[in-house]
Amino acid sequence: MSRSARLVPSAAAVLALALTGSACDGGVHGTPGGSGVRDPYFPKAGNGGYDVTHYALTLDYTPDSGHLTGKAVITARATKALSAFDLDLAGLDVDSVTVEGKDARWNRTGQELTVRPHDDLGKGETFSTTVRYSGTPKTLTDADGSEEGWLETDDGAVALGEPVGSMTWFPGNNHPSDKATYDIKVTVPKGLKAVSNGELTSQSTQGGRTTFAWHTAQPMATYVATVAVGPYKITRSTGPHGLPVLTAVDPTQVEASAKVLAKIPEIIDWEETNFGPYPFSSTGAIIAPSDAFDYALETQTRPVFPGATDTSTLVHELAHQWYGDSVTPKSWRDMWLNEGFATYAEWLYEEDNGGKSAQETFTELYEDDDEAVWAFPPAKPSSAAHVSDSPVYERGAMVLQKIRQKVGDDTFYDIIRGWAAAHRYGNASTADFTAYVEKAAPDKDFAGIWKDWLYGDGKPAHP
Ligand code: TRP
Ligand code: ZN
Repeated sequence: MSRSARLVPSAAAVLALALTGSACDGGVHGTPGGSGVRDPYFPKAGNGGYDVTHYALTLDYTPDSGHLTGKAVITARATKALSAFDLDLAGLDVDSVTVEGKDARWNRTGQELTVRPHDDLGKGETFSTTVRYSGTPKTLTDADGSEEGWLETDDGAVALGEPVGSMTWFPGNNHPSDKATYDIKVTVPKGLKAVSNGELTSQSTQGGRTTFAWHTAQPMATYVATVAVGPYKITRSTGPHGLPVLTAVDPTQVEASAKVLAKIPEIIDWEETNFGPYPFSSTGAIIAPSDAFDYALETQTRPVFPGATDTSTLVHELAHQWYGDSVTPKSWRDMWLNEGFATYAEWLYEEDNGGKSAQETFTELYEDDDEAVWAFPPAKPSSAAHVSDSPVYERGAMVLQKIRQKVGDDTFYDIIRGWAAAHRYGNASTADFTAYVEKAAPDKDFAGIWKDWLYGDGKPAHP
């Protein structure tokens, strides 16, 4: 129906609607929500018109066949009156969709699952959508050539979601700007484990299959949700002030990873000193088989590594719990707020543990003739294929060192701690960050740093 037809309905149409009551529930006249949130790098990611508050995922996975059966109950609030809305889902077969308990019409085009509820949804209304689905989840290849989504391993699988892979295993609003709490329940053949984010709230075995229920109480972006299925060895310990630590290690990696994993409590303690209170109610790590993929990911509370890792990678992924997972970018353009901070955390850890100072690392990078670092400015990646390149990581960290040079250590630590506190559990952009820094040190002029280091093309003339 066109917009004008909706605004000026004919008498016959009004009568027909009054008689059937189906098109406009209680006088609510909704319009479609939109198939993306206009992310500058991933325009199809996410959807308009609603805000998810909770995902309850019930999954059943059989590694031998690669078959997944899923039920997603998505609680969301309509941010406008809706006649239809989209969820992101790549691959898999949709078996049914209900909204508020009533069968909904739906169709699929590419990664968009468009749902047309029986009754329009009012602005501000909280509604529940249930999607039942099944099939063999797929692996996606990113613009930069790396693999994400659902990755099969020898005896199981690992789900990696940055930037868009989560839509391969559950339908949702797949953009970092919409964070929600989660319950992820996974059933696997007895003998295998299913590990996810947050805390394990129950585990039970029936008829040769074991169900693991995981609860994430703090808001989480879809890209840091994970599930790892396999013969993992699960170990529990405690970190600072009783923080529960749970690690899941592939049996082939137990020996090689023992020493580094034992450092988790001390790393969290060091990070709390520098970044402020750890934001989540548990922590840990997942050490997957070493050949499953080739990068680590800061999945919330429990980062995933491709085999045994080293201390600086562990420091990096745990630093992301503050910078990335708790304070999450508003769009993928703001990626340097994740990677610049996590890289800077590695520099600081080295500085505090008898290695090079962050300033020395900065100077070496500046003097090194590695052109890649200067390929584009950290706050403006050249394209989606480059959001995980060196300017986002190293040059992003260099921006932080420039701020430290300008304000001195005391104010610098106030800034990185204060930034994590100010946007805890939320989303933030580069503009939010520069405004925050300017407010924290009002007597200093940052214009040159923003211009040359954050937004400027090429290598800045002075280190
Ligand atoms: N965030 C990961 C890390 O540095 C790296 C990564 C994995 C990544 N997938 C990505 C970065 C996709 C950008 C885009 O710990
Ligand atoms: Zn990182």
